[in-house]
Amino acid sequence: METMIAHPVWQSVALGAHRLRNRLVLPPMASQTGDDTGLVTAATVAHYTRTVRPSQGLAFVEYTTVHPWGRSEPQQLALYTNAHEAGLAQLAALIRRQGVVPGIQLTLAGGKTDATLIGRQATGASALAVPAHGGDLPPPAPLTASEITELMDAFVESALRAERAGFAVIEVHATHGYFFNQWLSPITNQRDDAHGGSLAGRAGLLLGLIRRMKAALQPETVVSVRFAAQDRLPGGLTLEDGVWLAQALEAAGVGLLNVSSGLGGWRRGREQRGEGYLVADAAAMRREVGIPVIGVGGIQTLAYAQTILAQGDVDLIAIGRAMLANPDWPWADAAPVAQQALTV
Ligand SMILES: Cc1cc2nc3c(=O)[nH]c(=O)nc-3n(C[C@H](O)[C@H](O)[C@H](O)COP(=O)(O)O)c2cc1C
Repeated sequence: METMIAHPVWQSVALGAHRLRNRLVLPPMASQTGDDTGLVTAATVAHYTRTVRPSQGLAFVEYTTVHPWGRSEPQQLALYTNAHEAGLAQLAALIRRQGVVPGIQLTLAGGKTDATLIGRQATGASALAVPAHGGDLPPPAPLTASEITELMDAFVESALRAERAGFAVIEVHATHGYFFNQWLSPITNQRDDAHGGSLAGRAGLLLGLIRRMKAALQPETVVSVRFAAQDRLPGGLTLEDGVWLAQALEAAGVGLLNVSSGLGGWRRGREQRGEGYLVADAAAMRREVGIPVIGVGGIQTLAYAQTILAQGDVDLIAIGRAMLANPDWPWADAAPVAQQALTV
């Protein structure tokens, strides 16, 4: 037991006004257990009862849409009405009961959805198909100025609902090819108005939203952004763009960075091999900012987690599929993780 306490993974850490009991994070992972209108169901409660454990310091509730146009899966959770609040409050409370700090990820699908699901043509920055699902998505309809305002208002309102529901960390999903990734990336944003052009133009919508959220939320509520340090696609966001963005997000008031993969989705590219296939990206961001950084991607062993913490590559470590496969992963040291599940 003594050696476990000395292990850097178990050292507590401050996250703004909050204290995480250790460095392990349950990342947002869609359970797809909402009802047809995005309400939390008994299956959602059962899912988080199983997956949230005292072995985690911070646990995120999965991507939750802030607007009906932003849905990307039929059983996705939603937070675009007050009626959605109570179920999510139940999830925040069950996370807190485990001594874990509760986070929630808020999202919009943008062009990465299906017209049959949202009842209209998908919306995006430009009429350019999002490289996802094998490239078979139709081009979205570029948003008008009033539609942009409607979506950003919905984001802020949902963030306020999430705060009222008891979430300490509210994460904006800005990667994996969804809405903000589409606006940030030159592959999918070729607008010729103020929202396009330079990286500063493409990032303006996200940075403006962060500033609005910071002004509307309580000071102790941490705003997190999950973003890609690079798209890893020709003509996409580069690591240099990632550094610029990380620093701009910090300056706008973001308190936590969750560094994942880009436009093509969260699965690793063919050239990316081994445990921690995205940790170098997270480390590159951490060197350039003063706020905590989460690293993620194929992490399977406590030994690896210890090494990257000791090296100062990241502050927090998200364990996704290994925790889903065995929520008591840290105690079992990843032994039962199905190799197949980790090679997708
Ligand atoms: C079933 C499943 C659902 C996921 N849903 C989300 C999600 O809602 N939001 C998100 O940002 N990432 C999502 N991801 C990506 C994970 O958060 C994580 O980044 C990814 O699984 C890589 O980490 P791992 O190798 O530890 O599993 C999902 C992953 C899985 C396996």
